[in-house]
Amino acid sequence: MKKALPLVLALLVPMSAVTPGGVGAASTPAPAGTGGAVASGDPLATAAGLAILRGGGNAVDAAVATALALAVVYPEAGNLGGGGFALVRMGGELSALDFRETAPARARPDMYLDAQGKPVENASLVGPLAAGVPGSPAGLWELQRRFGRLPWPKVVEPARRLAADGFRVGRYLHDGLGREENRKLLLRFPESARVWLPNGEPPALGSVLRQPDLAATLGRYAEHGPQGVVTGAVAAAVEKASRAHGGVLTAADLAAYKPAWRQPLTAEAFGWKLASMPLPSSGGVILGQTLGMLEKLGWEKLPRFSADRDHLLAEVFRHAFADRFLLGDPATTKATEAQLLAPAWIARRAAEIDLRHATASAQVQSWPGATAAAAVSGSTETTHLSVVDRDGNLVALTTTLNGLFGCGLWVPGAGFFLNNEMDDFATAPGRPNLFGLIQGEANAVGPGKRMLSSMSPVIAWKGEEAYALGGRGGSRIPTHTIAVLLNLLVDHDPLQAALDRPRLHHQWLPDRLEAEPDALAPETGAELERRGHTLQVSTTTAKVHAVHRLPGGRVEAASDPRGSGSGGVVDPDP
Ligand code: DON
Repeated sequence: MKKALPLVLALLVPMSAVTPGGVGAASTPAPAGTGGAVASGDPLATAAGLAILRGGGNAVDAAVATALALAVVYPEAGNLGGGGFALVRMGGELSALDFRETAPARARPDMYLDAQGKPVENASLVGPLAAGVPGSPAGLWELQRRFGRLPWPKVVEPARRLAADGFRVGRYLHDGLGREENRKLLLRFPESARVWLPNGEPPALGSVLRQPDLAATLGRYAEHGPQGVVTGAVAAAVEKASRAHGGVLTAADLAAYKPAWRQPLTAEAFGWKLASMPLPSSGGVILGQTLGMLEKLGWEKLPRFSADRDHLLAEVFRHAFADRFLLGDPATTKATEAQLLAPAWIARRAAEIDLRHATASAQVQSWPGATAAAAVSGSTETTHLSVVDRDGNLVALTTTLNGLFGCGLWVPGAGFFLNNEMDDFATAPGRPNLFGLIQGEANAVGPGKRMLSSMSPVIAWKGEEAYALGGRGGSRIPTHTIAVLLNLLVDHDPLQAALDRPRLHHQWLPDRLEAEPDALAPETGAELERRGHTLQVSTTTAKVHAVHRLPGGRVEAASDPRGSGSGGVVDPDP
């Protein structure tokens, strides 16, 4: 992550490239059609989802097939060794599946501290001690069992085939593997290096990469469901690799993991209905609070690309992230969603906002011990996919290993990376996590607990029209997903343009307003600084993937131009 850059750098952008608050280049239209749509972080995964839709699968079948394909072709974040959330609207009914990792049975609140109580560097990030109990094997199966239409083995097959037959290594994976910090991580584990850095280098660009261990695991998964992964040889391989590198994860942890169906959070804003993820995601609370405050304060009436609008958005984000500090696993959270989303609370928070001046984050907090956070360090990766089928069913699914390639340990005999999701807990009092987030007691490590997440799958609808979207990018997931939503719901941008437009981010601590290059016209940036914002030009962003069902049933899909994803449709418009 960059150091704070003076606004003057933003001023160096040639004026001709800057439309006020917008991108220079015009967006291309998103592909549109009638037979369903998929948007994901990788073209091969999108193709797998589209093949399932063409073969008679519904949105859930396609979403699970896409997620499993990502586990093969996008090992940075796609996974069997991680977890995630799925938000579903089937036949108009909403459901939310929480397949977030849990802390292993032997996890303890002080497991990342030394004898003096000081955080041990990288202990919650590198190696299997950083791994939570994977939720994906049971979660993806449960999702498909409940809502899918196709036989389970058919849904697994595209991913199994990609693992067995191989796929061509693309630029994104190749360059990711070659980046120094990632090479360093993977070279710590001979098991990982053997597959991902043969001879110390990434597999050649365009070479075919086969993953026989993963193909065998997916074969077991197809035949036996999650039992094929969380028990027997695969689970034993996970325990063995974890023990060998100082982890506490056991086969018994894997076998005991259960995904949880949860009540989605719902809201109404700007004439749209919205559904989002409840705890252990903080995304739904941030979304509900943000949209609630913006509506209350008349944000949509302010001119687009104005300092007034950007100031208000930043202040609302600041307040919502301050409340995030109280959240954790639904079993231990200090404040409930009902409290933080109560109209009276949103009105009180909105009333604290000064429409002309930035309020220092230190004044917004009411909790001792929260201090300015260090910058994000290390590579991060998560992946989101969105699907709509020809019947208008929608899925928004986000899944993660947390850091890029998770904890760095690829398990031989299983064929997947283990996550480093434990870093999403408050691993030491006052210590920022990978995303600079300062978190509270409610999110302390405890056996069996789910760590607080920022992943924010969202579904929005009005009459026949609907969107499913979400993104990757740690703490920037909620803010950037909300920015895209506002472009769509308030400003009626075309789908691709809504994703292309540069975005802002504020997370309370550190107290700074991040702006993508070109997000602010020079005079807007100068006015925001006059109002007391510390601006930082930043290219650290979420990557948002979205699908759209239009009135009448046409659909379209778009992926974030900042990433390597793609959107595609079945039965495209001629
Ligand atoms: O659940 C969370 O909030 C994080 N583990 C997500 C990590 C992430 O998005 C990394 N991607 N850039």
